[in-house]
Amino acid sequence: MLRTTFTEAFGIDHPIVQGGMMWVGRAELVAAVANSGALGFLTALTQPTPEDLVKEIARTRELTDKPFGVNLTILPSITPPPYAEYRQAIIDSGIKIVETAGSNPVDHLPHLKDAGIKVIHKCTSVRHAVKAELVGVDAVSIDGFECAGHPGEDDVAGLILIPAATRELTIPVIASGGIADARGLVAALALGADGVNMGTRFMCTAESPVAQAVKEQIVANTERDTKLIFRSLKNTARVATNAVSTEVAEIEKGGCEFSDIQHLVSGARGRTVFEKGDLDAGIWTAGQSQGLIHDIPTVAALVSRMVTEAEALIAGRLSEMTDMRVGAAS
Ligand SMILES: Cc1cc2nc3c(=O)[nH]c(=O)nc-3n(C[C@H](O)[C@H](O)[C@H](O)COP(=O)(O)O)c2cc1C
Repeated sequence: MLRTTFTEAFGIDHPIVQGGMMWVGRAELVAAVANSGALGFLTALTQPTPEDLVKEIARTRELTDKPFGVNLTILPSITPPPYAEYRQAIIDSGIKIVETAGSNPVDHLPHLKDAGIKVIHKCTSVRHAVKAELVGVDAVSIDGFECAGHPGEDDVAGLILIPAATRELTIPVIASGGIADARGLVAALALGADGVNMGTRFMCTAESPVAQAVKEQIVANTERDTKLIFRSLKNTARVATNAVSTEVAEIEKGGCEFSDIQHLVSGARGRTVFEKGDLDAGIWTAGQSQGLIHDIPTVAALVSRMVTEAEALIAGRLSEMTDMRVGAAS
C-alpha cells in the first residue's frame, strides 16, 4: 500500500485521482474508480441541470459505497452556468469531496467548508496554488504543460512545476498531467507530490463512457498527437490532433477572434466525438500521455497494476540503485 498524507486525509486506499472530465466523468467511470480504491470525480457540468447532477450522484451511489467527489469547473464565461445551484446540489446530496478548477474558488469555499466538504483545487501554476492554500483549500492538484485540457499560459512542465510547488506549500499536492502508469506515479512521489491525478488514462478504460473508436485512437496515438488551440485567445487548451483542431490552429496562426472559430469548437460537436465515435466531428480533449497508453484495461486492473508496479519499482530498481552505490563505495 502506498500511504501518503493525501490518502490519509481523504480516506482512500491509493494516491490516485480521476479528475473531472467533461462528458466523461459519469457514474459508471467514477464508481469504478471508487471501487478500485482510488478517488473519482463526477463532472458537475456534464449534467444539463443541477437536478440531473443530484440524480447522477444517486446513480453513482447505487454502484459504489466508497467515497467519490464532484468536480465543479468554474470557468469565466459570458453566460455562466448556474454555479451556485450546482454547488447547492452537491451540498444537498451529502458529497464530502469537491474538485474545483477553472478560476479562484474563493466565492464557493465558505459554502463548501460549512458543509464539511474537503476541497481539492486544480490549477496550473505555483502562484495560483499558493493562493488556493491561502484561501483555505485542503489540497491542490497541479496540471503541468503536458496535461489534457487547460494547461494555462506559462508552459511549465510537471518535472519543474511539481517540485517548485511542493517547496512552497504545506497542504497535500497532487501531480497532474502526463501521468499514465506506475513510473509516472513513482516519479511524482519522488518530486514531492502526495498523489497523482489522471484524465486521459482513465478516459481510455473499459468503464469510460466514450465510444470505443476514441479509446482505440488514444491507443494508436503517440505523445506528439495533441494540438494546442485557443493560444491566441490566452485560454490554451490541449486537445487531440484531428482535422478540426488542425484547422483551428491554422486559423489562429493568422490571428483571429473567437467568432472565427466558434463554429468549429462547440461543446456539442466535441460531445458527438465521444458519443458517436466520429473522430473528426469536433475537438476532443486528450493529453501527451496518449504516448504512454497502449491498452484499454478495466479501471480495477489499471489501478491495481499501477500500485503493484509502483511498489515493485520502489523496492526493486530504485533500491537496487542505492545498493549498487553502497556496494561501489565499500
Ligand atoms: C476529455 C477530458 C475532459 C476534461 N474536462 C475537464 C473539466 O471539465 N474540468 C476540469 O477541471 N478538468 C478537465 N479535464 C482535465 C483532467 O481533469 C486532468 O486535469 C487532465 O486530464 C490531466 O492530464 P492527463 O490527461 O495528462 O492525465 C479533462 C480532461 C479530459 C481528458
